[in-house]
Amino acid sequence: MGKQSYAVTIAGGGSTYTPGVVLMLLHDMQKFPVRHITLYDNDAERQETIAKACAIYIQENAPEVKFSYTTDPAEAFTGIDFVLAQIRVGKYEMRDKDEKIPLRHGVVGQETCGPGGIAYGLRSIVGVIEILDYMEKYSPDAWMLNYSNPAAIVAEATRRLRPDSRIINICDMPIALMDIMAALCGLRDYRDLVYGYYGLNHFGWWWKIQDKSGRDLMPTIKEHMARNGYADAVAGLQFVDESWLHTFQKAKDVYALDPNTIPNTYLKYYLYPDYVVANSDPNHTRTDEVREGREKSVFGMAHKIIQQGTARGFELKADEHSEYIVDLACALAENTRERFMLIVPNHGAIENFDPTAAVEVPCIVGSDGYQKICQGSIPQFQKGLMEQQVSVEKLVVSAWVEHSYQKLWQALSLSKTVPSASVAKDLLDELYEANRNFWPELR
Ligand code: NAD
Ligand code: G6P
Ligand code: MN
Repeated sequence: MGKQSYAVTIAGGGSTYTPGVVLMLLHDMQKFPVRHITLYDNDAERQETIAKACAIYIQENAPEVKFSYTTDPAEAFTGIDFVLAQIRVGKYEMRDKDEKIPLRHGVVGQETCGPGGIAYGLRSIVGVIEILDYMEKYSPDAWMLNYSNPAAIVAEATRRLRPDSRIINICDMPIALMDIMAALCGLRDYRDLVYGYYGLNHFGWWWKIQDKSGRDLMPTIKEHMARNGYADAVAGLQFVDESWLHTFQKAKDVYALDPNTIPNTYLKYYLYPDYVVANSDPNHTRTDEVREGREKSVFGMAHKIIQQGTARGFELKADEHSEYIVDLACALAENTRERFMLIVPNHGAIENFDPTAAVEVPCIVGSDGYQKICQGSIPQFQKGLMEQQVSVEKLVVSAWVEHSYQKLWQALSLSKTVPSASVAKDLLDELYEANRNFWPELR
């Protein structure tokens, strides 16, 4: 593109992450000049609180940037260069069910993994595709950078249903973990690392980590992993809640299964589901923690800014989550050719794995899009796990397309988090009932 300035729409304008993304867009104006920011959401009331606070902040800090918010797709998606998407179809009310229903059956209750992730996936597909279609209708040259979860299922759905679309699905977890690894090695952040990684979203492993001079950092990182997982360097990171600390520590046991690689934290849900369930409170799950924490503080601050009519005096700062998506937009717009971890169709990036799978691998990004960096062949252990998990994701999308009860039952039965087909069926029936307003009718 290489334009003078860009118009950006944030889809899921009422997201807890929106203020951070807006802050980051303003922060990066030198390298990625933005002329117009639009918020789009289908919940006008939720979005308005965030939007009014952002309007005040922008007016005070970058009055030259035009700002608007809307629930009208034509207004939101006309004449834009980027959609930064972070929608949560069904909001926290449905996330609560994704987590609590499986736990009542003694199964992992998580936003993106296991039955909860499957239920959420069946809600997200239509929401993300709808926005993608608006974008292609009103601004066909724009890029959509998508955080909306569960990113693995969304990526498989968009790959299959909109194969020519300009969407890139991303996750901030590998970046957050690489920031930790950099800190463990006395480096600044993930940009100081040269890495090899393969996997599905929330389901992958690093097989190489070096510094820019080619020094192997794996021995240092492995030493920390074996002792304390990622927990040796978490101070000052965005994930400070108690449950995240446990997740960082539990990576030690995930690492123990294959000491040749460094694992993504989310693998604990697949490899230690019994432990996860035993340590979950079915009456107080991550949704409750997020509502009492992040949502309360973001919306609380927005209300205060609106009430006082100024954002001055508030301690506002963007985190690596926002930095990552804005950096990616900048790479596409300004041809920076930096390295990003993206969720993209495999086509040989992992040689001995399904070419049609949506995999997470490092890529080089520039104005011509992304180029995958080939990761070679992967070991039997990871390949076996990934084949099972990718089959779950593919069956979920097939079930959505074909309205198939049978395929959804197969998907749930195949998930490593579910102990038997009978538990899978009970879960399916209860999740279906809870998701009547969102899932397609199953036959
Ligand atoms: P949130 O509930 O605060 O915000 C989501 C917003 O999306 C809400 O305002 C909601 O009204 C809106 N929305 C729902 N359906 C919509 C639709 N069809 N069209 C337009 N807007 C819609 O959620 P949050 O905790 O801020 O998270 C937002 C999303 O970002 C979630 O999907 C979350 O999982 C995802 N996320 C992903 C990553 C990643 O690594 N990929 C990281 C962080 C957050
Ligand atoms: C990590 C994951 C995301 C997830 C996010 C927030 O960054 O990569 O996919 O959405 O954590 O999770 P939370 O439980 O705080 O809403
Ligand atoms: Mn993620």
